[in-house]
Amino acid sequence: MNVLGIESSCDETAASVITDGKILSDVISSQINVHKVYGGVVPELASRKHILNIGTVIKTALKEAELSLDEIHAVASTSGPGLLGSLVVGLQAAKSIALVKRLPFYAVNHLKGHILAARIKDNNESNIPEFPYMALLASGGHTGIYHVKDIDNIKCLGQTRDDAAGEAYDKVSKLLGLGYPGGPIIDKMASIPGDSIKFPQAFRQKRSYEFSFSGVKTAVAQYISKQNSINNEQAHAIAKGFQQSVVDILVRKVVLAAREKQVKNVVLAGGVAANSALRKHALEICIENDLLLFAPPKNRCTDNASMIAFAGYLALQKSMTSPLDTAPRSNWPL
Ligand code: KG4
Ligand code: ZN
Repeated sequence: MNVLGIESSCDETAASVITDGKILSDVISSQINVHKVYGGVVPELASRKHILNIGTVIKTALKEAELSLDEIHAVASTSGPGLLGSLVVGLQAAKSIALVKRLPFYAVNHLKGHILAARIKDNNESNIPEFPYMALLASGGHTGIYHVKDIDNIKCLGQTRDDAAGEAYDKVSKLLGLGYPGGPIIDKMASIPGDSIKFPQAFRQKRSYEFSFSGVKTAVAQYISKQNSINNEQAHAIAKGFQQSVVDILVRKVVLAAREKQVKNVVLAGGVAANSALRKHALEICIENDLLLFAPPKNRCTDNASMIAFAGYLALQKSMTSPLDTAPRSNWPL
């Protein structure tokens, strides 16, 4: 079964073709250059750019898969959560193709796409997590712990009360006068050996799966405001300390959840799962706790359409489809 997947929930216009769960093409047109001058995504500019790009991105995905539209058997698209003006572009393109070609259509929850991405097989030897697993989803818009028993049995155990982890990375990067998106920049800075400044962690002792990242962000802002200026060395120490605070609490909570629910497999998902310190620390702590860690390749942690095509494929295999009048949803909790 050849499934065309489309993703446009934020600032990436993406399309992918998968066949029987394997990726044939994975095309992403990033809008980073448009938004970085503003230090964050400007929704109006994002939707305009999606409109300009969507046709070419879909055509390129078909071309790279060496398939024509007539050889596609189903279409899947992100329909939420995300920026409404952005979502509507990909969703409308997907529904139009499904309508004209009389194909089954499936509206994918973006969070579910991230959470299931670790199950995509890259080659025959690929090691994928079996259900049930405990997923840490940490992205620019969401951060939470999810108990995943099956594709349609995913329970959120707790999430952030304020900023998402990725959002905190982006804001701290902005405070330091670094670029957008902040995650990869801080990741790189923090990897350079040197001192680090200690920043607080919210809910560290609490046996809950909730997070809060606004406090650490404010602590960084206050630290910076107390200095006359920030030199390179201090910026590195701030980046390092901030990252330690975030990574430690993320790993602590997902491991706590896996142990309490007696789940052996732990999955990292979402853009922040591309973070090298998070991947390393999570692996160490999982080994210590006799847990198995699974993380998709870094380019499949950040937004992509393969995860959407894949989630659609799994749903369609279970004969689940969505009506063609499905509307985009800015807020769609799992
Ligand atoms: O999943 P994603 O691509 O989009 C959303 O669904 O939000 O996540 C984007 C977020 C951004 O906040 C970005 O700064 C962060 O993921 N990110 C990272 C890294 N790469 C991307 N955060 C930390 N370390 C990274 N290497
Ligand atoms: Zn995402």
